[in-house]
Amino acid sequence: MTKKPLIISTDPGIDDVVAITIALFANDLDVKLIAATWGNVPLAKTLLNTLKLETFLQTKVPVVSGADRPLLRSAIDASDVHGKSGLAGFEFPEPDNSLLKPGIAADAIHEVVANSTEKVTLMQIGPATDFALYFMQYPQDLPKIEKLVIMGGAIGRGNWGPYSEYNVAGDPEAAQIVFSSGVKTLLAPLELGHEAYVTQSTLNEIKKLGRIGDMLYHLLSNLHDKTDNDGREIYDALAVGMLIKPEMYTIKPAYVVVDTKSPYAYGASVIDFDNFFNQQANVEVGVAIDQATFANWFIEAIKKAE
Ligand code: RIB
Ligand code: CA
Repeated sequence: MTKKPLIISTDPGIDDVVAITIALFANDLDVKLIAATWGNVPLAKTLLNTLKLETFLQTKVPVVSGADRPLLRSAIDASDVHGKSGLAGFEFPEPDNSLLKPGIAADAIHEVVANSTEKVTLMQIGPATDFALYFMQYPQDLPKIEKLVIMGGAIGRGNWGPYSEYNVAGDPEAAQIVFSSGVKTLLAPLELGHEAYVTQSTLNEIKKLGRIGDMLYHLLSNLHDKTDNDGREIYDALAVGMLIKPEMYTIKPAYVVVDTKSPYAYGASVIDFDNFFNQQANVEVGVAIDQATFANWFIEAIKKAE
């Protein structure tokens, strides 16, 4: 099985840690670069968290620093969900700073894509700032992008505003640049995370798997994205699942555009499945997931990491 080269843009963030860990140890993914961007917590913390996570996992994928703020709007913060550090509940080791690649994300992404003998897949599990900057700086790379998988947006109700989801609302203009890039794009909206949450019994199961399961247990036990029945919503894991086990998902094409004008729905992902806007579909949207299959896949994916 050939491994797909992958670049991750991330704002760890507890559910980012779940997605990054799964990606790093997946049989058919070859993570070439991790770009830490501002998001759940400020860039200094997301960058430190990325380095600390890889040090704990003993992986050696280069890490590069991304943008420290959105393109136009002021930065938002989700430390109430992920803790002040961004990784509440687990004490990671001091970072191996030799993993830090000098320079900026757009150039590092370009270097990977330009040097790759095959098309590269991008996974965006934070705000779109860095991939937007990369697409604007290196438009000539776009034909070498296999596809872009995004955790973001909401088909219905949001988690940052009535209609806006955190990643898209964090940088609406960047999200609009990414959705209109022409790159094959898959979207894992909030609804998938609401459906495929981690139950307490699954949490207890992964705790027994080993040091990585134990780390994830402690982080997820401190995550404030909870369901009414005390499940944990691990949104970003639904993006990496789309890459590894797409058959878990029901996918529908849609025209997706971001509201960058409204005072009330600023940052809303407007997802048109019914051609109201008479526009070509630009995104494959995950509209449902088989929760039981996801739960089993999740445990197996963590086992692979141990
Ligand atoms: O809305 C959920 C998204 O916002 C996830 O990526 C989470 O990590 C936060 O970045
Ligand atoms: Ca995230």
